[in-house]
Amino acid sequence: MLDYTKLDKILYGGDYNPEQWPEETWPEDMRMFRLAGIDILTLNVFSWAAIQPSEDCYDFSRLDRIVELAEKNGIRICMATSTGAHPAWMAMRHPDILRTDEHGIRRKFGSRHNSCPNSPTYLKYGPALAGALAQHYRGRESIVAWHISNEYSGECYCENCEKAFRDWLKEKYGTIEAVNAAWDTAFWGHTFYGFEEIVVPDYRSEMFEGGRTTFQGISLDYRRFMSDSMLRECLLEADEIRSAVPDAVITTNFMALYKGLDYAKWAKHLDVVALDCYPSNGDPWTRTSMTHDQMRGLKNGDPYMLMEQTPSVTNWQPYNALKRPGVLRLLSWQAVAHGADTVMFFQMKQSIGACEKYHGAVISHAGSEDTRVFREIAALGTELKDLGARTLGSRTAASAAVLFDWDNWWAIENSAGPSTDIRYLTEVGRMYSALRSMNYDVDLVAPDQPLDTYRLVCAPLWYMVKGRDDENVRRYVAGGGTFVTSFFSGIVQENDLVTTGGYPGKLRDILGIWVEENDALPSGSQNSFRYGGREYPAGILCDILHLRGAQQIDEGGYTGDFYKGSPVVTVNHFGKGRAYYIATASGPEFYRSFLGDLCREQGMEPVMEVPADVEATCRRKEGARFVFLLNHKAEAVKVRIPWDCAELLKGGTYPAGSEIGLAGYDVRIFEIPDGSAGCQQV
Ligand code: GLA
Ligand code: ZN
Repeated sequence: MLDYTKLDKILYGGDYNPEQWPEETWPEDMRMFRLAGIDILTLNVFSWAAIQPSEDCYDFSRLDRIVELAEKNGIRICMATSTGAHPAWMAMRHPDILRTDEHGIRRKFGSRHNSCPNSPTYLKYGPALAGALAQHYRGRESIVAWHISNEYSGECYCENCEKAFRDWLKEKYGTIEAVNAAWDTAFWGHTFYGFEEIVVPDYRSEMFEGGRTTFQGISLDYRRFMSDSMLRECLLEADEIRSAVPDAVITTNFMALYKGLDYAKWAKHLDVVALDCYPSNGDPWTRTSMTHDQMRGLKNGDPYMLMEQTPSVTNWQPYNALKRPGVLRLLSWQAVAHGADTVMFFQMKQSIGACEKYHGAVISHAGSEDTRVFREIAALGTELKDLGARTLGSRTAASAAVLFDWDNWWAIENSAGPSTDIRYLTEVGRMYSALRSMNYDVDLVAPDQPLDTYRLVCAPLWYMVKGRDDENVRRYVAGGGTFVTSFFSGIVQENDLVTTGGYPGKLRDILGIWVEENDALPSGSQNSFRYGGREYPAGILCDILHLRGAQQIDEGGYTGDFYKGSPVVTVNHFGKGRAYYIATASGPEFYRSFLGDLCREQGMEPVMEVPADVEATCRRKEGARFVFLLNHKAEAVKVRIPWDCAELLKGGTYPAGSEIGLAGYDVRIFEIPDGSAGCQQV
């Protein structure tokens, strides 16, 4: 976590690249930052080429001047290691640092996030640079976090990666026979007699159209290996930093709902999680909430850093709409509402060249404080300053959890059949959004995490059940928990080999059903079913199941096709708890109705009763609760406050029962001391 003993407020700032500007402009930047209430700068994100002109030379002189200027202005530093883009000279002299793409083409120097994670050059000079930086800047009180590289991502299929993959497999499986068994290589005559026969699964081997694979086992392991390779490089940098600065707070910036890396595994090695949050135009607000909850879940509920967001506009979407007036404030507080303890931007000063020159910034091309965006930034700066440390370090106490697992994501979307429309995030989003839109706080957690604190655990599309994860859920349900899973679950074990004996494999006893067949519906076609007196759509996949102890709770099963009448929603009483199965994908109204029923049965209270598209979340700390109220609509709304409370942004106290108005995109934070009237356990 961040060192809270050093903080008296939510840090406010972001990525600053003064190396792109003449030095005489820097003091004016500082003036603008002071005006905006900026107190943290992420420095040195893309300066490797500037700092290291050759193999044996570092030049920190300009960075020294930047650091000193920031310090003189009372600004803290998040120090990046710069290894997100290697220097051109390094690529020319040591081409092993260049990645090879999935078509087997070795890239030339260019772009960024471009180093092969298994390149001897990268593994040598990346960590060495991190170490040199840490040695050089050790002891600087101003540095509150070390930011390794930038947005680790992508993949490489070069020969160094191929060799490293074989070593990774040896380490994992021990023998080639074990690899053959894990990947079921008897299929299509793939039996290997030695590790040296194994090649990378790219378009030259197992890949075909759109990155699909003919051999799931090898492709799944390659994804794991790529994630591990990048993590290994990151940790070599971390080791270097820690040996120079033992109490360093180390992070790297994660992307929202990013598929390529197993962030759950990565987060264990970081001191604090950091998020780059760029909702696309038109994303529902619940998707952004899910992003935040994922970040909070990665380190057991610890607060995280909002490392990047745009103050106004992105540059990389087809249509880059402006954040409407008030939305910058709303989305910043939304992050805090879900557990972020910093509010930071990309970029502090708008570049004039290359692809990010039209990306929003704190200091725009106009260079003036007299802009709408700057005024909004400065107003938020004042608000953050006024709030001070009150909410720092507070935590969410969610009573609902949604299980999330990268292996499962990779495996389900690698699958050839039953339907290319099956998307993990979509299915997770259906259950998550239903709960979130009813204002239940939700944790996103890995399936091997302790579940006892939750009254409701949902495992959407839990296709791959690894190791003893079923036992974790079995124990939870037997002990009285309420568990929900959905179609095409329990199908394979950790190597993507089917668990035989009938679906849903290892979950059969918990769910009390046998799924005999799965019918994929071509896009646009639909079945339906009735639940709670209403008819709902059934799409994507319709599982055809038999009750084996469970009861059917929908009314009459599917309404059409040859499996008309086959159960859609079932419940199994298992030990002291209940396990529910939803045999198909339905619409938002169904999930709200069904999960809403379960929450009520479990006596779960939403954070607050509010109009649609108003979000309420809760963080707790030392005898108080903070309820964040966020109006995601442009229109004003009215809400009734159920407890005696103080409001922290606009000030004032409210007795329970007061009605307050919230303008479009407005935000309030209520502090509710424990024991105040109307205060219930969430
Ligand atoms: C990412 C990167 C930044 C910048 C922004 C633009 O988050 O980390 O360097 O490119 O995207 O949105
Ligand atoms: Zn490589």
